[in-house]
Amino acid sequence: MVKICCIGAGYVGGPTMAVIALKCPDIEVVVVDISKPRIEAWNSDTLPIYEPGLDDVVKQCRGKNLFFSTDVEKHVAEADIIFVSVNTPTKTRGLGAGKAADLTYWESAARMIADVSKSDKIVVEKSTVPVKTAEAIEKILTHNSKGINYQILSNPEFLAEGTAIEDLFKPDRVLIGGRETPEGRKAVQALKDVYAHWVPEDRILTTNLWSAELSKLAANAFLAQRISSVNAISALCEATGANVSEVAYAVGKDTRIGPKFLNASVGFGGSCFQKDILNLVYICECNGLPEVANYWKQVIKINDYQKSRFVNRVVSSMFNTVAGKKIAVLGFAFKKDTGDTRETPAIDVCKGLLGDKAQISIYDPQVTEDQIQRDLAMNKFDWDHPMHLQPTSPTAVKQVSCVWDAYEATKGAHGLCILTEWDEFKTLDYQKIFDNMQNLQELDSRKEEELVDHSLL
Ligand code: UDX
Ligand code: ADP
Repeated sequence: MVKICCIGAGYVGGPTMAVIALKCPDIEVVVVDISKPRIEAWNSDTLPIYEPGLDDVVKQCRGKNLFFSTDVEKHVAEADIIFVSVNTPTKTRGLGAGKAADLTYWESAARMIADVSKSDKIVVEKSTVPVKTAEAIEKILTHNSKGINYQILSNPEFLAEGTAIEDLFKPDRVLIGGRETPEGRKAVQALKDVYAHWVPEDRILTTNLWSAELSKLAANAFLAQRISSVNAISALCEATGANVSEVAYAVGKDTRIGPKFLNASVGFGGSCFQKDILNLVYICECNGLPEVANYWKQVIKINDYQKSRFVNRVVSSMFNTVAGKKIAVLGFAFKKDTGDTRETPAIDVCKGLLGDKAQISIYDPQVTEDQIQRDLAMNKFDWDHPMHLQPTSPTAVKQVSCVWDAYEATKGAHGLCILTEWDEFKTLDYQKIFDNMQNLQELDSRKEEELVDHSLL
């Protein structure tokens, strides 16, 4: 029986391994993590992440060929294939701070693999890493290899949160990069055999290591670029009276462009887009390509502009100040169908409003008050350092309240911001909400109402 061990039981490692276990009953899959609470949650009825369909997959195989454990070393030592799916945050200090990926967690995982291994291993990069990481990992692993053969593969994950299970069941493609040597090709084939249990052969692409690593960064940069493009157009639409949804629809009808990923929004969020583009920018700079670096930097600049533009619109439409006014925020997660708040635009929007001394009342169906307070107290780039638990800020506690109902959040509010496109927000009784909000005519006689909405709705 082939044994797989995945280091890192997060948003990528957990669902990916659960689907591998489901589709490959002949393979034993153990997901390990240094975080005891995370592993306990994976072994409980309340999984640590919310993802449609995930509970069902985990229930079907947990205890049969899918296991979650904190005994990292034991399971790494026993495995044939080791997936590494640990955090790769943006560096907060030192060389490349604010752009380069911090490989601390990756490096410590690689050192541990080298320490405990007693048999040949295939080590798979699952978490997004900068191009050429495999080379560094290879050096760490083979430095004192005790005659053990390590093959490094790059197998970037393309799943999107909220649709992870669907994406894993029917991936557009599976990408496997490896060394172009006989041993490298054998390792690629071994991983291909795993995916071939359910993915059609023509969807499994094999490339060299560097192409696989770079493809992941490039794919995310292209996707984010589409959003920044449509968001830039949304600013022009607002200035001219064009409707961005109509423009996006018309543009997307061109089969060369296509209709997907053209929803104007308050900005993209999530753990990948910004981090991966910053990474790409850094790699370009390191390779003497400042023009290319600046090109991609612009995608992030427009995203930041879109978030601050949103805050400015809210403030300017309320007599240029929201001080002491109640603003209801519906949705805090970075997209619907997830409780994940990493890099969510809601953080920047709320911080912007708090900066102007607003009182904020937040409702999100999947995000806890604790998480929201932590996010609002955290510094930029600290969110992906798991050991970094900041105390909640007393200021944030005072000005922010979290409630478990959209009607409660909007009661007595002067303005309403919908920041996540949760389906349940589409069917709210907005007349009822409006009737229970402050009478804004008193605030601004030029406008009947001030309902700030999100164009994704
Ligand atoms: C992304 C990639 O899609 C996925 O392939 C990769 O593996 C990880 O990064 P994810 O961040 O989970 O996935 O979600 P995604 O659906 O891409 O959305 C990212 C952000 O873009 C969200 O904040 C979403 O609201 C926003 N978005 C998406 C838009 O603003 N407009 C759109 O049209 C689509
Ligand atoms: P992603 O979204 O890429 O899955 P997450 O932050 O959700 O990222 O998950 C990464 C996981 O990796 C965390 O649960 C963290 O505790 C775990 N982790 C980090 N370093 C190690 C390590 N050396 N050994 C085991 N687990 C680790």
